[in-house]
Amino acid sequence: MNPLISGIRTAEIGANNLALVSRFYETVWTLRPLGGSATVAHFAGTIGDYPVLTVVAGSTTVRRIIWNARGMDALEELHGRIRAAGLPVSASARAFDDGHGIGFDSRDPEGRTISFIAHDGTPPRPTVRDKITKVTHFNLNSGNYDAMRAYMRDTLGFRVIDETKTNGFFNCDVDHHALVIGRVPMRPTLNHIAFEMPDLDSNMRMCGTMREAGYPIEWGVGRHGPGDNVFAYFAGPEEMPIESTAEVLPVDETYAYRGPEEWGFPPGRTDQWGVTDAPSLRIKRIQSQFPFVELPLR
Ligand SMILES: [Fe+2]
Repeated sequence: MNPLISGIRTAEIGANNLALVSRFYETVWTLRPLGGSATVAHFAGTIGDYPVLTVVAGSTTVRRIIWNARGMDALEELHGRIRAAGLPVSASARAFDDGHGIGFDSRDPEGRTISFIAHDGTPPRPTVRDKITKVTHFNLNSGNYDAMRAYMRDTLGFRVIDETKTNGFFNCDVDHHALVIGRVPMRPTLNHIAFEMPDLDSNMRMCGTMREAGYPIEWGVGRHGPGDNVFAYFAGPEEMPIESTAEVLPVDETYAYRGPEEWGFPPGRTDQWGVTDAPSLRIKRIQSQFPFVELPLR
């Protein structure tokens, strides 16, 4: 358990066509509009009344990963640690109030904008069938895995919970992982954003809804190795790579790390079941296409 961070709060992305993209996330992806402006749209999951997704008019890109800090003291502690690590950070831990919470911005070792907002401690709401709960993880491509691993573990307090030959998995709470970082050196870009469905059947119905809305499954349905979660990958609106996932393995301190030699599938398989084809060329293309834009620190 990470004493400072409980999980991903918000995925903040940019979109060329804010109206069209917003319509998708509301009507197909089941998120609940939380208002905004002519240039920004916020969306909640069923977990609570804060944005799990924020879409900003501009270009199709990734803007910020916002983490939930476990209260104001945790926010202060994180701010001090990031400053001590020599990474760019807002002037204070209470640098902004975005209307949903108080927090600060910073940069990770590869220049992505990483923000923290103090969560008020409200427990998660009960899940709702067929509706997205929250963003459960980000998957990032990295050019310097060792630096990112050290940052996640030593600066932010995450546990390196499993590592395969190609990915590292980082844990902060009950969910097996909240962040995945690629180990094969690449330009630091987004690999995908994973949204959580409350159960396997809801995830399957989301796959059907997506197909009917013109978004074929690009990889899946399958069950991953580390995390044991059921997955389906899509090229979302403006080709944003998004995953719908369910049954993420709940873990506690007794979970035993396994390394690259202990993970892997038989030849020809890309998941536990062996039902899905390999990832499509399209999903492979878009999983290294979106950089994080450089934003001023608030
Ligand atoms: Fe994922």
